Amino acid sequence: MDMKISFNPIYSPQFKSSSSFYKTQEGKEIGTFTWFFRQDLDWKRFIEYQTELFKNKDNVNIVQFGASDGTEAYTYLMSFFEYADEKDIAKFCPIEAYDIKESMVKMASDGYINISSTDKENMDKLGINWEKSFRLAKTEPYYNNTTLYLTKSRLKQRVNFNHGDMFQILPTLKDESNTILLCRNCLGYFDDTPQKIYQFIKTVSEVLKKDSLFVTGNLEAEIPYIESFLRQSNFEPVMRNVFKKL
Ligand SMILES: C[S@@+](CC[C@H](N)C(=O)[O-])C[C@H]1O[C@@H](n2cnc3c(N)ncnc32)[C@H](O)[C@@H]1O
Repeated sequence: MDMKISFNPIYSPQFKSSSSFYKTQEGKEIGTFTWFFRQDLDWKRFIEYQTELFKNKDNVNIVQFGASDGTEAYTYLMSFFEYADEKDIAKFCPIEAYDIKESMVKMASDGYINISSTDKENMDKLGINWEKSFRLAKTEPYYNNTTLYLTKSRLKQRVNFNHGDMFQILPTLKDESNTILLCRNCLGYFDDTPQKIYQFIKTVSEVLKKDSLFVTGNLEAEIPYIESFLRQSNFEPVMRNVFKKL
């Protein structure tokens, strides 16, 4: 198993665990960059919107591609606790999170996460009490001289971390108009192959039924044809980087 996580010294110490680059078998360079409350999604508005949209559903399936080290899934949960009623979380869980980078999936599954000082400052500014969700790890098996945190069960038990390739998993998804598919800052790495992106979005539109949501990030927004593919495939933008199937 691939257990080595390399740091990009340019971005350390800000990003640490989430600053690795790796090459795919095809030689494509992929980054695992992520951070808490990434600003390309209005988390408060998103939580309020999805809560209202799915208010009559018993279950909502949250599927997350390109989960990286778990930061994004945990941001979703902490946002929910902050901006919605915590007692309603059960119907949105567990989040099924996938990443193709095995070492990240292993670390997230083991409950370890690196929280940078920038992350902590940003969460403090947002009034998020992150210490309710993470505690300092006494031992850490992944890095030397790096302080890691352990994710507490209020978050950890609500996410399943899976190793998998989104291009293969996507066609197997089943939707009953109750899915939130997060695919944020991953498709952007495939901008040299618009056909691959088009095929992916076409499959998203076949899999997702009316009212389900497809959520992208800034990497996707920087590639103008992604939004046109989405519109052609029957998706309507409902807020920045959030598209609803018509
Ligand atoms: C830049 S990170 C984005 C992390 C997070 N979604 C965010 O927006 O902060 C991209 C992630 O996508 C993952 N990834 C790239 N290709 C993938 C694939 N084919 N299937 C699943 N994950 C993939 C990478 O390993 C990496 O962790």
